[in-house]
Amino acid sequence: MIGHNRIDWANRIGFPAYWIVPSSQGQGIMTACCRAVIDHAFRELKVSRVIVAVATSNLRAQKIPERLGFTKISTLKKAEWLYDHHVDHYIYSLAAPKF
Ligand SMILES: CC(C)(COP(=O)(O)OP(=O)(O)OC[C@H]1O[C@@H](n2cnc3c(N)ncnc32)[C@H](O)[C@@H]1OP(=O)(O)O)[C@@H](O)C(=O)NCCC(=O)NCCS
Repeated sequence: MIGHNRIDWANRIGFPAYWIVPSSQGQGIMTACCRAVIDHAFRELKVSRVIVAVATSNLRAQKIPERLGFTKISTLKKAEWLYDHHVDHYIYSLAAPKF
């Protein structure tokens, strides 16, 4: 599953999120999916920036924006209520390339 949690149309920013079943992990499938969705967001949806938020403890999920050239721009403390506790998020940002 991959999609934009929301798109801030006023400022043209996409906020994608993703997950994949454990049996399909470790093959680069989600990195390829992210690349396709982000490329579509820049080329077709004309967003100027994509932002990904990942729990600071979620090392696997962090590798994807890092692999795709995102910049880690900040940390949001207590960004998400996960089951029974807060988790912090790293915020990754990627600006649209010049086409
Ligand atoms: C986060 C999540 C999507 C990452 O899954 P993943 O399978 O590691 O991601 P990818 O499909 O991009 O695969 C990357 C892995 O495949 C390997 N790989 C194999 N062939 C590859 C190829 N051709 N290209 C790229 N990577 C390849 C990579 O080395 C990497 O493994 P590593 O992390 O051990 O180095 C998955 O763990 C998940 O769904 N987690 C639960 C939900 C979640 O946390 N979502 C994120 C919220 S933002």
